[in-house]
Amino acid sequence: MDNAARTTIVGPESLSICLSIRREVFIVGQDVPEDLEVDGLDPECTHFLCTREGRPVGTARLRDVQGAGKVERVAVLASERGRGLGRQLMLALHAEAMRRRLPKLKLNAQAAVVGFYEDLGYESVGERFMEAGIEHQAMVARPPFQV
Ligand SMILES: CC(C)(COP(=O)(O)OP(=O)(O)OC[C@H]1O[C@@H](n2cnc3c(N)ncnc32)[C@H](O)[C@@H]1OP(=O)(O)O)[C@@H](O)C(=O)NCCC(=O)NCCS
Repeated sequence: MDNAARTTIVGPESLSICLSIRREVFIVGQDVPEDLEVDGLDPECTHFLCTREGRPVGTARLRDVQGAGKVERVAVLASERGRGLGRQLMLALHAEAMRRRLPKLKLNAQAAVVGFYEDLGYESVGERFMEAGIEHQAMVARPPFQV
């Protein structure tokens, strides 16, 4: 774990910071169309922001979907990957999911990062599919979530 990094839940006043990370990672880095990335659902989500040495470096959001939690927009700046920050973000999100007693967490993983989520306790369900031109795999985790 990187001691200089911390992840917190942030309010609407910090959404633009989360969006700037998502823009760099998904729109610039992965050519995801802007209208897919900024989907209008942010106001109903809980947003997580990871800072390292005070600088915003990663984000994720948690959305309630029919009583379960959906993990979306997990992103760490390319220059900051491989230091455990993505894992730290997910563990913070899991702590919130435990606090809310969510019965299930779902996500659509990019095929390239299925292993990242498997390490965090997620299992693949169903066939792979295409979304925003990228191959994805639906995955689920059940409590207790790793914290
Ligand atoms: C996926 C992402 C969030 C991971 O963030 P990160 O900070 O690099 O990940 P971490 O350093 O916390 O890695 C945690 C563990 O997962 C592993 N891991 C990271 N990326 C992985 C990958 N692509 N495949 C398999 N394992 C991976 C790491 O090796 C590490 O394992 P370790 O603890 O045994 O060393 C980051 O690579 C990213 O933002 N990618 C681009 C956006 C994206 O694809 N988001 C996911 C959308 S579904």
